[in-house]
Amino acid sequence: IDYGTPASKSEKLVTLTIDGMTVQVPEGTSIMRAAMEVGNQIPKLCATDMLDAFGSCRLCLVEIEGRNGTPASCTTPVADGIVVKTQTERLKKIRKGVMELYISDHPLDCLTCSANGDCELQDMAGVVGLRDVRYGYEGENHTKLGKDESNPYFTYEKSKCIVCNRCVRACEEVQGTFALTISGRGFDSRVSPGMDESFLSSECVSCGACVQSCPTATLNEKAMYNIGTPEHSVVTTCAYCGVGCTFKAE
Ligand code: FES
Repeated sequence: IDYGTPASKSEKLVTLTIDGMTVQVPEGTSIMRAAMEVGNQIPKLCATDMLDAFGSCRLCLVEIEGRNGTPASCTTPVADGIVVKTQTERLKKIRKGVMELYISDHPLDCLTCSANGDCELQDMAGVVGLRDVRYGYEGENHTKLGKDESNPYFTYEKSKCIVCNRCVRACEEVQGTFALTISGRGFDSRVSPGMDESFLSSECVSCGACVQSCPTATLNEKAMYNIGTPEHSVVTTCAYCGVGCTFKAE
């Protein structure tokens, strides 16, 4: 299970109510994690327990009695005595509306997509019960954005990016490299390596943290290499332990 946000290390416990259940969790725990720990799944796209919460996708909104608005449960910490609702009709309607916007800006090639069956966007559309999209499908137009295949290990398909920022945060938090950013505004926002460079010519060290964090097929591991004389080679430092092994790929 991915609990959405990292566990709190606090030894102080906080008691709250989530959907009628009394829950006790360490201080500093997010409402999302507290709900997940008692088996209440809150829809999410930008949150993962590997990374600090960011609050960009707006799917995980909840209601807290006595407070205005619908805060994001991934970025809102628990507090003693609060009463949280995660599944009201109002929240379901908001989440469906948010998912509609995501799907309207995404290619509809699920059946032939390499992430079919292992795509968090697809999963969340099912979780929120999305059946129809009232808007046009801008996503099809984005396919002209093309695919960056310059990196020897993975491909980057801009049209599938939902701007959840997970890859950008993974690059910073896991690898300590700042190779990725978000460029553009509104519907034109997309992840970008540097100033719209290719992955190979950017600061990317090919650690794979971004690929692992991607919830769609935007960043996709290359399953096969073309045999032939390589145009480029990449020297990579492995990110997964502190030893600092390097290897060269051509
Ligand atoms: Fe909370 Fe995205 S999961 S805003």
